[in-house]
Amino acid sequence: MPFYQTRGEIPAKRHIAFKNPKGGIFFEELVGNEGFTGASSLLYHLQRPTRVTAIEHHKDLPWKAVSSTDLRPHHFRLGNLPPGGDAALDRTPFLYNHEVALSVVHPTKTTATFYRNSQADEIVYVAKGKGTLRSPYGKLAFSSGYYLVIPRGVIHSYEFASSDTFLFVVESTGVVRIPKRYRNSNGQLLEGAPYSERDIHTPVACDPVEEMGAFPVHTKMRNAITVHTLEAHPYDVVGWDGSYYPWAFDIRDFEPIVGRIHQPPPVHQTFAGDGFVVCSFVPRLYDFHPEAIPAPYHHTNAQSEELLFYASDEFMSRKGIEFGSATYHPDGMAHGPHPGKAEESIGKKSTDELAVMVDTFRPLKVCEAAMGVDDPAYPQSWLE
Ligand SMILES: [Fe+2]
Repeated sequence: MPFYQTRGEIPAKRHIAFKNPKGGIFFEELVGNEGFTGASSLLYHLQRPTRVTAIEHHKDLPWKAVSSTDLRPHHFRLGNLPPGGDAALDRTPFLYNHEVALSVVHPTKTTATFYRNSQADEIVYVAKGKGTLRSPYGKLAFSSGYYLVIPRGVIHSYEFASSDTFLFVVESTGVVRIPKRYRNSNGQLLEGAPYSERDIHTPVACDPVEEMGAFPVHTKMRNAITVHTLEAHPYDVVGWDGSYYPWAFDIRDFEPIVGRIHQPPPVHQTFAGDGFVVCSFVPRLYDFHPEAIPAPYHHTNAQSEELLFYASDEFMSRKGIEFGSATYHPDGMAHGPHPGKAEESIGKKSTDELAVMVDTFRPLKVCEAAMGVDDPAYPQSWLE
């Protein structure tokens, strides 16, 4: 997590009686990972967070892979998937392995359900849309271009300004981190890092919601959703402190690192997970050597797979992509610019591209659900 934060009312010391002026005490809850040794926060509730009145199975979330083992690149036109449903519960998966799972959703419900992903941290890239992410920690405003980083186990809900929202979701089995090489030994972001603490948006405190009733929380675990009905509103928090909370980062605040000649993809790295990285390709000036080729060179990266999600219809090295496209290049084959794109890039001064790349270190599986929007002509699209 980024850094220590505190909101609302908290007692002078941890684990002491924190008197509720209405009588009794506030109820302390530690939310964190890695068994009391990872990042954590302490939250103070009006009611015990353990007051569960009902537990019901909602649905299984099987991520069915295609049976073919043929090795081929893919172009998924994910923007063509039909809209509908809930931001958390109605996602379409397209690639996964045991470390990372990728999905998209076009939610039409503007107020989403209470949800917590207890099996993965989530990075939600808002390709289109605007709204507020609510949680016991407060509210986070977002608009298109924002990454929302939601640690596992955090109950949250979305409020969208319209039904025209498109989210690209990265679920990480390991903890999502800011790359270590961007931080000094105190954890502070370095002067040379492409973003700083000022670019990280943390929750704005809200008054505790003092409501009793039935509050269904949809919990993802074991690749299924279980509904836990809480008796008290999950956002009944009077204060919290710690380093475990949802946060947001606007891709437009990623300061691109450019050079005289082509810089390799690690300069675009934004987040790290176990077995994958997330990179941001943002509008930037191109390389300034007089004979530089700004488009990338062909590459065969052993033990690395590339997924590019395009949030605009411009990209320096590819043709035929559109908003919502995703190209997948598996390990084992060369990839590179489409014919003409390298030549076309020579002498260009800048690019307006906007894309999110997920590179994994272990092979991915293609989901059946994505094959309906797969472009069958893509593997041959380098032929002239
Ligand atoms: Fe690549």
